[in-house]
Amino acid sequence: MYPKGGLLTFRAGCGSARAYSRPAVKAREPFRPTRCKSGADGIVRMEEGRGRAAHLLPAAQILPRRYGFGVFSMAAETKHERWMRLALALAARGRGRTSPNPVVGAVIVRDGEVVGEGYHERAGTPHAEIHALHMAGERARGAVLYVNLEPCCHFGRTPPCTEAILAAGIAEVHMAMLDPNPRVNGRGRARLEEAGVRTIVGELEEEARELNEAFTTYITIGRPFVIAKFAASLDGKIATRTGHSRWISGEEARCRVHELRDTVDAILVGADTVIADDPLLTTRLPGRECRHPLRIVADSRGRVPTEARIFEPALPGRTLVAATPAFPSERRAALEARGVEVLVLPADPQGRVDPVALLETLGRREVTSLLLEGGGTLLEAFFRAGLVDKVLAFIAPLIIGGRESPTAVAGEGFARLEEAVRLERVRVERVGEDILVSGYPRRGRKAPEETPCLPD
Ligand SMILES: NC(=O)c1ccc[n+]([C@@H]2O[C@H](COP(=O)([O-])OP(=O)(O)OC[C@H]3O[C@@H](n4cnc5c(N)ncnc54)[C@H](OP(=O)(O)O)[C@@H]3O)[C@@H](O)[C@H]2O)c1
Repeated sequence: MYPKGGLLTFRAGCGSARAYSRPAVKAREPFRPTRCKSGADGIVRMEEGRGRAAHLLPAAQILPRRYGFGVFSMAAETKHERWMRLALALAARGRGRTSPNPVVGAVIVRDGEVVGEGYHERAGTPHAEIHALHMAGERARGAVLYVNLEPCCHFGRTPPCTEAILAAGIAEVHMAMLDPNPRVNGRGRARLEEAGVRTIVGELEEEARELNEAFTTYITIGRPFVIAKFAASLDGKIATRTGHSRWISGEEARCRVHELRDTVDAILVGADTVIADDPLLTTRLPGRECRHPLRIVADSRGRVPTEARIFEPALPGRTLVAATPAFPSERRAALEARGVEVLVLPADPQGRVDPVALLETLGRREVTSLLLEGGGTLLEAFFRAGLVDKVLAFIAPLIIGGRESPTAVAGEGFARLEEAVRLERVRVERVGEDILVSGYPRRGRKAPEETPCLPD
């Protein structure tokens, strides 16, 4: 009767959800509160075969009676979701390698068995569906295809996948999300339906959207997805008052940053970070083939010394200086002689590199994701302009203190809390001795008053 394992998804019509263990159900005491904002899902991972699902089901029944609110449902992961999860895992293998294309994984299932699988490895190479169809061969006829993104129906760098799917005789296609690319967006699905293939959209859609969040931003608004990342002390400082900042976060957090660099197209830092820290901004993951994103220094007037390590010609990958017309021409020539491109952009009202112009230019160059690695002045400019799409804050168990010590986001700051950048879809994770808080800035409205729905 009760689901035996896998994932249980709680959907709260309003407010919060709480999971209860069996003894806790008896005592009516919550053992692991899983708070969800209205409309959000809390996910509790179950251990296979341990039957904890049975412990949790009564909680779902108790909650509406006890608190008297909303619909509260709970469903075991379906077999379709399990295959889709495999497609997502395959897709994730292409992370940081497929730009400007999305990451896509595909699984072909026949009689409950995987007969084909594949993922998109890099732009210009065959799409995930083609790899999976190739592996399945004749066994694809009448089989079910799971793919995290709607199959394409247009000629890009490769022919349309819809035609290959039809030619192979696939009977049913499950896609986690429609392709946000305006050239596809529903047309791939329509083409399959027209030809008599059953299509289902939306299994594990949230995970699929997150996996391709950079691609979605890039393909819909033509600029990179911007991730603001910083490492701060518990009191929000990113360096001491003397500018000492190495290292605030621990080794595991720093390793996570290198993994992150491995998946983005570009990194941006402010001139003063290069002057203070002289960073390399390369990707260093021992024993792994790394991808070195384009390194960008925002240096409006040419204050960064040409001998900075980031301009070393021997560094893997490329470095670019984002400058304004005030950048001295002799410095530009010296940098160009070291293989560094100097990109002259319009200045903002403060005479600094205009962030919007920079993002537009990067978008035109097919840069789909940009990691802002500080410092606080640069971050403030991007937050103030509403250009940050995601925040990754590593918080170290450290107190730096001091009015003069720089904070993660500098500048004047917002005058009122309603104007402040509030994150949603917040996650908290332990990374070694540090805590990673991540989330997405709320768009287009003032932060509403927090009114808890659940009595405590
Ligand atoms: N813990 C961490 O995660 C972390 C990370 C990075 C840095 N840091 C620390 O942060 C400190 C440096 O931070 P900071 O705030 O002083 O400087 P910053 O943000 O690194 O650099 C600011 C400078 O960048 C240039 N810039 C160009 N275009 C800009 C724009 N649109 N918006 C903002 N700046 C622009 C400006 O100089 P021009 O006008 O001359 O171009 C500006 O003064 C250092 O102590 C460093 O160690 C810590």
